[in-house]
Amino acid sequence: MSTVLYIKANPKDDKDSRTFRISNHFINVYQKTHPNDQVITLDLYKENIHFLTKEDIQTIFSPKTEESRNHPILKYTYQFAEADKYIFAFPMWNLNTPAILKAYFDYITVSGITFKYTEHGAVGLLNGKKALCVTTTGGEYLTPPMSDFEMGMRYIRTILKFMGVDDIKAVAAQRLDIIGEDVEKIISDALKEAEEAAKNF
Ligand SMILES: Cc1cc2nc3c(=O)[nH]c(=O)nc-3n(C[C@H](O)[C@H](O)[C@H](O)COP(=O)(O)O)c2cc1C
Repeated sequence: MSTVLYIKANPKDDKDSRTFRISNHFINVYQKTHPNDQVITLDLYKENIHFLTKEDIQTIFSPKTEESRNHPILKYTYQFAEADKYIFAFPMWNLNTPAILKAYFDYITVSGITFKYTEHGAVGLLNGKKALCVTTTGGEYLTPPMSDFEMGMRYIRTILKFMGVDDIKAVAAQRLDIIGEDVEKIISDALKEAEEAAKNF
């Protein structure tokens, strides 16, 4: 049995978000095809995620104890470390992810839990885990020069690899805000792609 963490980063309600339309479909198909797995939904806008304070930084760099598991920040780090698979759902905002997702990565990228320092530098501790990102964009970022502008997926791939997760896939629906595009067709193609990805994830 695997534990799947479904991390949602968009303040919109499910019914109003094109990203969540696709990611929820992924989750529904995943649950049907993996009935013994446990899916935990983490809606970041409903959690008490804030920017790190100087006290938070002190906690993050202090030795971890049994009590750390209940700490308001480190509880998210342990939860992330203990999951087997991750689904991230986020729209592109200003060429990046919504800031709350970066704030969440500041909660979970913690030495001694998700990575460690060695004499050869930092080493990830989350080897063997896998991630899938569901994302949507108004424009298109597949080829240069626009692919160089894309910072969200690039950041997620890099920080996950830093923590040892190197099986990272994406389902992306792009061009959703381009005038004249057949948006329903783009979304329905992404729903099909999500469905196939869910069966094999
Ligand atoms: C604050 C904000 C910033 C955005 N910035 C970009 C951007 O830089 N590039 C882009 O292609 N689309 C951008 N968009 C468009 C969204 O990525 C796009 O409409 C997406 O499908 C919205 O997903 P949702 O329906 O799940 O909210 C932005 C939208 C918002 C609300």
